[in-house]
Amino acid sequence: MRLRTVAVTAPAKVNLCLGVGPLRDGYHELATVYQAVGLYDRVTVNPAETETTTISVHGDARLSLDDVPTDETNIAFTAARLLADYCGLPADEAAVEIGIDKGIPVAGGLAGGSADAAATLVACDTLWEMHTPREDLLRLAGELGSDVPFALVGGTAIGSGRGEIVTPVMTRGDYWWVILESPVGLSTPAVYAEFDRVHAGRKVPSPGVPDALLSALRANDVEGLAAALSNDLHAPACRLRPELEQLLQDGRDESAYASILSGSGPSCLFLCEGRVHAMQVAGALGGYGAGHVSFASGPVPGARITGLEH
Ligand code: C5P
Repeated sequence: MRLRTVAVTAPAKVNLCLGVGPLRDGYHELATVYQAVGLYDRVTVNPAETETTTISVHGDARLSLDDVPTDETNIAFTAARLLADYCGLPADEAAVEIGIDKGIPVAGGLAGGSADAAATLVACDTLWEMHTPREDLLRLAGELGSDVPFALVGGTAIGSGRGEIVTPVMTRGDYWWVILESPVGLSTPAVYAEFDRVHAGRKVPSPGVPDALLSALRANDVEGLAAALSNDLHAPACRLRPELEQLLQDGRDESAYASILSGSGPSCLFLCEGRVHAMQVAGALGGYGAGHVSFASGPVPGARITGLEH
């Protein structure tokens, strides 16, 4: 019996380090360590009644849902079309109703759009019963965006190339993050452009992943991890949004072990000792009124099927 509905959940990511290298063909060479954390978007796909793919977006009212496109510019739409082309599906069979239930902040540096794209690939592959090999799904994911492959894989992984080459790393234990969302998003290309402006005329070296960070993850050494966190997009993002420096300092003042911008920002991350400490820091930061505060732990798995209906 044909499937009527497939639901797939995919997590947000944080970058524990983000080394940015030279610009090549419109993208920067990256050396990063991704960690998937327990904030999720849920994507549901159904065969469409007509030959047109549609997208609807739902979620918590505090998220900037109006900023999420509901037309073919949504990366989930592109993901469904890319997979349909790969599978050689005719338009009438490939048309789907995509429902996105957002739990990941929009334009926050937490890769919510990438999570939607990864979830849509898995959901459509399942709905269409294509059994696409994992390596092909990862390749299609890489075409959709630099951090879409990681949203498929989840856990903790090194990202190289432009971020799309994902190699899982061994870690022990859970890591607890307080996440301060900004009410106003920040454009990733704008932050990279600011990085280029500052480095104009200088040779940018190839980036690497610090050994200290990988050792801390292997040893479940939270303080060691706190000392090893780094983000080359911190300076350019803070030049575009100077208030971020103070927000990061506020979390350290409230006893977070370390604070770091998430990817290209503007979400701020605060590393805590464990769940209780994260609850305390989140409670304190909530009182500042700078934006919505939540907490989540990682690593968690990548995109996975959470509902099937025949
Ligand atoms: O790959 P993705 O579509 O997520 O990238 C969005 C934008 O971020 C790119 O168009 C580019 O401006 C910037 N980017 C970059 N180098 C990377 C990844 C992203 O310059 N490695």
